[in-house]
Amino acid sequence: MVVKKVGVIGCGLMGHGIAQISAQAGLAVVVRESDQGALDKGLQRIKRSLDKLVEKEKVSRPDADVALGRIKGTLRLEDLGDCDLVVEAIIENLDVKKQLFKELNGICKPATIFASNTSSFSIGEMGAASGRPQRMVGLHFFNPVQLMKLVEVVRAKPTSDEVFAEAKAFGEACGKVPVAAADTPGFVVNRLLVPYLAEAIRMVERGDATPADIDTGMTLGCGYPMGPFTLLDYVGLDTTLFILEGWAKAEPSNALLQPPKLLREKVKAGKLGRKTGEGFFKWDGDKRA
Ligand code: CAA
Ligand code: NAD
Repeated sequence: MVVKKVGVIGCGLMGHGIAQISAQAGLAVVVRESDQGALDKGLQRIKRSLDKLVEKEKVSRPDADVALGRIKGTLRLEDLGDCDLVVEAIIENLDVKKQLFKELNGICKPATIFASNTSSFSIGEMGAASGRPQRMVGLHFFNPVQLMKLVEVVRAKPTSDEVFAEAKAFGEACGKVPVAAADTPGFVVNRLLVPYLAEAIRMVERGDATPADIDTGMTLGCGYPMGPFTLLDYVGLDTTLFILEGWAKAEPSNALLQPPKLLREKVKAGKLGRKTGEGFFKWDGDKRA
C-alpha cells in the first residue's frame, strides 16, 4: 500500500472514527477541523473510544497510546499537503465539498488521492471540481466507524484502477470489508436504508404507530440491531435531511426520496438526535435516556 500518511477533514461523528481507525492501522494521521472547540471535542472522542476498547480488552493500553500519538490535530488545510490520501468527512453539502476539493488541489502533492465519505452525493462531481478526477474515489464508512465492518469503495467513471485499488487496500488495512459500488445516489446501502428511514417517519406522521413500537417491530420482528428511529437519532436528523434534500432535488417525482415534514420540523427545532441530546428519543450522552 502506497498510503502511509492520511489526512482527515472534519473530526465530527464520522471523521473522528476515520482518524482513529487509520491510526490504529499504523498510519500517520493529520485531522483538520474548522475551529479549535470542534477539534478538541473530536480528539477527546477518539481518546474516549480508545479507552473503551482498552476497557473491553479489544486493544492493549500501549497500542491505544501509540495510535493516539499518531494523530495530529490542525486547523490549517496546508498541513495536509504531503498526505498520500485525504478523506473528507464534513457537512453533507455538495457545493461545500466541491469547494473544499478545489482548494485541496492547490495544496496537496499531485499524487495525493482524494476520497469523500459522502452518504449520498456524486463522487464524479467532486472529482471534476477537484481538478484531478482520476484520483478521486468514495470511501463510505459506517457509523460507528470503530465498530461497523463495512466500507463502500465508490468508483466514479474517471477513477483510475490504481486509485480504486489503493482505496480498497486502505479500507482493508483499517480492518474493514470493502464492497465496490458504482457512483449512484446512496451507493448500495443508503439507497436501501434512507428511503426505509423516511418511510418510518411517514408512518408516524400518518399515526399508524409510535416510534417506540416501530423500533420494537424492526428489532424483534426483523432482528435489526436498532429500530429506524434509534438509528435516525444515531445518524443525525440533520444528515438524514441533507441526504433526502439532495436526492429530492435530483428526483422530484420519486415519492420515496422526499423529506418528510416531521423530519424538517425536528431539524428546525434543533432536535438533531443523539448529538444534541434529543431527536425522536431523548439521549443521555451516548445512551438512550
Ligand atoms: N468506540 C468504542 N466503543 C464503542 C463505540 C465506539 N465508537 N461505540 C460503542 N462502543 C461500545 C459501547 O460503549 C458498548 O460498550 P459497553 O457495553 O461497555 O457499554 C459496546 O461498544 C457495545 O455497544 P452497545 O452496548 O451499544 O451494543 P450493541 O451490541 O448494540 O452494538 C452497534 C452497537 C454496533 C452500534 C449496534 O447497535 C449496531 O450495529 N447498530 C446499527 C448501526 C448502523 O446501522 N449503522 C449504520 C448507520 S447508517 C450509516 O452509517 C451510513 C450513512 O451514510 C448515514
Ligand atoms: P458531523 O456534523 O458530526 O461532523 C462534521 C464535522 O466537520 C463538524 O465537526 C464540522 O465542524 C466539520 N467541518 C465542517 N466544515 C469543515 C471544513 N471545511 N474543514 C474541516 N472541518 C469541517 O457530521 P458527520 O455525521 O460526521 O458526517 C460527515 C460526513 O459523513 C457527511 O458527508 C455525512 O453524510 C457522512 N456520513 C455520515 C454518517 C452518519 O451516520 N452520520 C455515516 C456515513 C457517512
